[in-house]
Amino acid sequence: EQLADLQQRLLAWYRAHRRDLPWRRTRDPYRVLVSEVMLQQTQVERVIPKYHEFLERFPTIESLAAAPTAEVIRVWSGLGYNRRAVNLQRAAQAVVERHGGVMPRDVDELLALPGIGRYTAGAIACFAYEQDVGFVDTNIRRVLHRLFFGPEVPTPRATAREIQALADRVVPAGEGYDWNQGLMEFGAVHCTARKPLCVVCPLQAHCRAYPAIQTALAEAPATA
Ligand code: ADE
Repeated sequence: EQLADLQQRLLAWYRAHRRDLPWRRTRDPYRVLVSEVMLQQTQVERVIPKYHEFLERFPTIESLAAAPTAEVIRVWSGLGYNRRAVNLQRAAQAVVERHGGVMPRDVDELLALPGIGRYTAGAIACFAYEQDVGFVDTNIRRVLHRLFFGPEVPTPRATAREIQALADRVVPAGEGYDWNQGLMEFGAVHCTARKPLCVVCPLQAHCRAYPAIQTALAEAPATA
């Protein structure tokens, strides 16, 4: 079947290209939360040292919840968007106060926490609790849009709701963790915004954007 082949190809690509990143070595929901909030607006290379430093200073969700906010912001500095640090601490405080320090598992319960949106809720449900849920960031949106709707520029053909519904629908059963890490990694290094590697793409046969790329190449003037 078509979808099954696409899923297997993406998973195979990920398993061959997977980077060993610190947050891929843990399922601790607190560590997953910290990494995903850091990664929302900051490059992987800049997050890695901060991730270690932050967790050394605040090793548990309780320690983060109890810290002076000024101290949290100080340790955060360098990542930018200090607002994220304040929201992260508020989420930690809510987990401690409402859930006895145990991160909830379900997307709906996670969404009820302050400062946790649909992306972060899905990422925790999947990367900490290994649930087969979909969620959408910039890379996942671009990859899914290209595969299922065609090029997303200049005008996206799918709404945010449609992409979220698609993201949920295409998670391979029992493989949500690698699938979602794989979609992100594929978007980050292969199916990039500006220079997608379509010529060597393992998903060509499944991609609604690939025919458009071929047309563009055929129409381009030949080079020496
Ligand atoms: N960007 C957002 N989440 C990420 C993750 N888990 N791994 C790599 N890059 C990411």
